[in-house]
Amino acid sequence: MHEDMERVLITEEEIARRVRELGAEISQDYAGKELLVVGILKGAVIFMADLVRCLNIPVRLDFMAVSSYGASSESSGVVRILKDLEQNIEGLDVLIVEDIVDTGLTLNYLRENLLTRGPASLKICTLLDKPSRRKVNVQVDYNGFVIPDEFVVGYGLDYDGRYRHLRDILILKREVYSGKEQREN
Ligand code: PRP
Ligand code: MN
Ligand code: MG
Repeated sequence: MHEDMERVLITEEEIARRVRELGAEISQDYAGKELLVVGILKGAVIFMADLVRCLNIPVRLDFMAVSSYGASSESSGVVRILKDLEQNIEGLDVLIVEDIVDTGLTLNYLRENLLTRGPASLKICTLLDKPSRRKVNVQVDYNGFVIPDEFVVGYGLDYDGRYRHLRDILILKREVYSGKEQREN
């Protein structure tokens, strides 16, 4: 295990099994349709790459990048689009894919924003749900794991841009981030 990690929270094998289940469920729900999968950069890329390869329906991919306004550690709730979709989603079945729902502010904003564009349907799939940190209620349609209030990295999730490539989901040692500005995930 990486020296900056306290322990493994979810192993690579557990993730793979759950991603296959989610893929099967989504494939069933969208049978006969084509799905536009929207990944939210950068945290969602690893999960998205694995999830879409578990889908047996026609799929197209697009990406958005968003950022919370302000440099403070607590998210303000105001979200800025850094990179928008490349296509019009009017009339399309759209699935937002995220790595984690924490305060809910990012997904709440994305849902409201994409709904104004007139998709045929809009659902949300997230790998991790940390309900203890929620500030706004978000309806998540597909969730991989509910996790405790720990600082987790790996499988796309970062601390200060690092550790996204680690294959498990791990709890970061407190000493790695304490004393520095605390910026969750
Ligand atoms: C993280 C995470 C989610 C969001 C969740 O992204 O990947 O997108 O925060 O937090 P929330 O529910 O409190 O809004 P981050 O802004 O760190 O960008 P990144 O995906 O590039 O790491
Ligand atoms: Mn993110
Ligand atoms: Mg992050």
